[in-house]
Amino acid sequence: MASRLNCHSTLLISLLFLAPRIALPAGDTPPQVTFNKDVAPILYAHCAVCHHPNDIAPMSLLTYGEVRPWAAAIREAVVQRVMPPWHADPHIGEYINDPRLSEQDIATIDAWVKGGAKEGSPEDLPPLPEYNNSWHIKPDLILAIPEQTVAAANQDDYEYIYVPTNFKEDRWIRAAEVIPGDRRVVHHATVSVIAADKVPTGKKPGENLGPFEFRTGQVNHLKPDAPVSDDGCAPSTVPGLESFSQGYLNHVAGIYLPGHLAEVRPPGYALKIPAGSYLQFQVHYSNRLKEPVKDRTSIGLVFAERPVAHEVAQYEIWNNYFLIPPGDNAHKVTSCFTLPKDLTVVAYTAHMHFRGKSMTTEAIYPDGRHEMIFNVPKYDFRWQETYFLKHQYVMPKGTKLVTTAYFDNSVNNPLNPDATKAVRWGEPSNEEMMGFWLAFADDVPQTPKQEVNRLDATQ
Ligand code: HEC
Repeated sequence: MASRLNCHSTLLISLLFLAPRIALPAGDTPPQVTFNKDVAPILYAHCAVCHHPNDIAPMSLLTYGEVRPWAAAIREAVVQRVMPPWHADPHIGEYINDPRLSEQDIATIDAWVKGGAKEGSPEDLPPLPEYNNSWHIKPDLILAIPEQTVAAANQDDYEYIYVPTNFKEDRWIRAAEVIPGDRRVVHHATVSVIAADKVPTGKKPGENLGPFEFRTGQVNHLKPDAPVSDDGCAPSTVPGLESFSQGYLNHVAGIYLPGHLAEVRPPGYALKIPAGSYLQFQVHYSNRLKEPVKDRTSIGLVFAERPVAHEVAQYEIWNNYFLIPPGDNAHKVTSCFTLPKDLTVVAYTAHMHFRGKSMTTEAIYPDGRHEMIFNVPKYDFRWQETYFLKHQYVMPKGTKLVTTAYFDNSVNNPLNPDATKAVRWGEPSNEEMMGFWLAFADDVPQTPKQEVNRLDATQ
């Protein structure tokens, strides 16, 4: 404790000398850190994007009146670096969307709270940030699904809904955001680009079961007696199962996951939506309420200015054959995927459910070099950020990506729905998934044809 206090006072002292905003006034009066002058600019820049009315955070942090009751909690959240949320190890990779506060901002908030959380002079208050409904981007076009009714007390339900773009020419998408119509029932929504002739007319994609899957209602699960391999890199000798890991190619336009904000791609990088394409909305509904709820989830698209030099797509790499024993607090599961071509790496996402504990991905290059490229040391289901790299880099064909995840199926995991259950792959969030998603770009705009897309493969 003493050393922590020391560390803060050192920071504060350096602040007093360095920060022009806290210049010492003449005379002996100690400088006062105020909300209006010092704290509001930090909150507006780093917190208000979620902490304003009708957004994902439970309280608005815009006015002094709103912020004051939270002062102690805010200090705690920023000193512990719980807020703003960020789960990638900052020592591995640098990310464009890293929202972490500087040491100086943390010291300012700390000093403000310790100094009595004063309001300050009204003329120091910067203008309130403005928000356009719940969009964090300025969409050029919004496409919504037709209204869905999610029945009362509905169990988990995956719906696939197809929305025509009616694009007469190829369009390039620089940024996108998926907004649930009703956050109480939308667990996640993934919007992918799909050619008009691939829109299923008979069975829904979810009804095409893999050899070891079964379906209840509108969701799929792995059969309890399906083959088990926590090591997704081990060779499979199971008939009908080529390997325990799979990498699927997906052209994701946008995604809504808890804590996931808009998909803003680096300049020059964009997703191609070919003329006439449809958008497939895969929406995971889960209604715990006693009344039916209506939903119209939508996607907002921002068009890229031409020319676009890099076309983005995504490999979704999975091991679906793990078995997490009851009570195990650190159960290891791996997956392996070898790149079928050269590509430029753009972003990473870790996807697990409530029992997910940590995830790392190591690249083993064709020349034998090993490199840790991604680390989420404390995974939190409520925060599934996509981590956009500051420096995109080329990964050669033949690079092997080895992902290692740990799951906590013990009672010590406060999010664990049931520590007495052996857990296998399943779409509901009380079952598990182990996914590492690699967003990449191809330099010459083209749609790769040779890879297998999950939908193609299962039709
Ligand atoms: C990406 C959206 C987002 C950003 C950015 C964000 N918050 Fe939050 N914050 C949330 C959500 C959602 C919750 C409630 C869920 C949770 O606690 O995880 C929350 C909870 C909190 C809490 C309550 C924690 C508790 O003790 O229950 C505090 C305090 C807080 N935020 C402060 C801040 C501050 C200060 C910043 C900026 C430095 C910030 N937040 C940035 C979304 C955000």
